Amino acid sequence: MDERLKVNYAGLELRSPIILASSGITKAYENVAKADKYGAGAVVLKTKFEEELMAHSPTPRFTIIRRGKGDYTSTTNMSYEQGYEFSIDDYCDEIRRMKADLEIKVIASIGCSTKECWAEWAKKVEAAGADAIEMNLSCPHSDYVMGNTGRINDFIAEMTPVVKGAVSIPVFTKMTPQIENPVFTAKVMEAAGSDGITAFSRCLGMDIDIENQVPVLHGGYGGHGGPWSIHYALRWISDMYTKTELPISGCGGVVEGDDIVKYILAGSTTVQVCFLIYTYGYSIIEKLNEGLLAYMDKHGYKSVEDFRGIVTGSKIKMLKDVDRTKTLIASIDENLCVGCGRCTDICIFDGISFDPEKKKAFINAKCDGCALCPCFCPRKAISMVKR
Ligand SMILES: Cc1cc2nc3c(=O)[nH]c(=O)nc-3n(C[C@H](O)[C@H](O)[C@H](O)COP(=O)(O)O)c2cc1C
Ligand code: SF4
Ligand code: SF4
Repeated sequence: MDERLKVNYAGLELRSPIILASSGITKAYENVAKADKYGAGAVVLKTKFEEELMAHSPTPRFTIIRRGKGDYTSTTNMSYEQGYEFSIDDYCDEIRRMKADLEIKVIASIGCSTKECWAEWAKKVEAAGADAIEMNLSCPHSDYVMGNTGRINDFIAEMTPVVKGAVSIPVFTKMTPQIENPVFTAKVMEAAGSDGITAFSRCLGMDIDIENQVPVLHGGYGGHGGPWSIHYALRWISDMYTKTELPISGCGGVVEGDDIVKYILAGSTTVQVCFLIYTYGYSIIEKLNEGLLAYMDKHGYKSVEDFRGIVTGSKIKMLKDVDRTKTLIASIDENLCVGCGRCTDICIFDGISFDPEKKKAFINAKCDGCALCPCFCPRKAISMVKR
């Protein structure tokens, strides 16, 4: 492993900032051995929940929803996967095996409802050798998140000190995106003694089978995510970075090395990856590490620390700071335009006219400079130029 990828995450020395997120991809020794082989810095194990129902996943568990029209599409992974299937003692046995054989750092994930369970299980996973604990305060399926998002901050404030008081290894707190203000929740986590924030888990969503008139996948709400989900996380992490002292593990929507870079620029110390592994297998971790290194080479960075948090603080303009003078207008390269009419259809300002003789589109004085038409011209004939 390239030494430049090393990071220190709340005292944990990781060989790469890439962590495999809690889910089926980290459910057992065999899975974690693959993460180790392909160079992840750590794994967060599948969550062991106190709620008994949460140990039993149904089949099927997944569906991929591709929807939209032409240029306007999205890919969503919808899942109905519950927690670790077996007992807490089995969970600890797996940790012991991992720690005996593997180099990778192992972060246990537990999700409890009662203080007694949080404390007891935290002690057990620590005794089994876990390097850290991630408190799953975020599972969209679990009753204390799904049914009680309104009291999640109180729950974090109440339970985090219990786990902190029970163990001496780092304790991370995982945040649901289903909250009003993640910065506020980050401050709650900080005040409660968390050693690091994982942001984020997934939301509950629904798709509808319109013929049978029921929700898809077991007739209920499912966890949903996809490549699109990175943007919400980047926005809030960049804000948290300047408002809390805690290190952040960015999570959601990673599909390539550049996404790891984006999370670090937004202030993450580590980056968690989940559904990409379900989609491409564990070997993709190597590609993510390579992508990160390629970016570092290009910019001459010697360590991940060199560019962490660059796109935060004053790099992010507030509403009042944005220049509102209209400086741009679209321009069509006649040689490239094939007269397909796509741009004239979409311009809500009627800023594009059509020359029937030449069979070409051209920009008129009504163009507002919104820059939408270049995104859709199939011939890349439109560019934005100074007015
Ligand atoms: C099938 C599946 C199972 C998951 N199980 C857990 C879990 O047990 N505990 C947990 O904290 N997060 C769980 N998650 C959430 C992931 O850890 C991660 O936060 C989320 O998927 C966003 O990352 P991604 O966009 O890279 O998939 C699960 C996600 C998926 C897709
Ligand atoms: S979308 Fe492009 S190719 Fe089509 S008419 Fe407009 S400028 Fe020409
Ligand atoms: S830039 Fe916007 S306003 Fe101008 S022609 Fe294109 S779509 Fe219309």
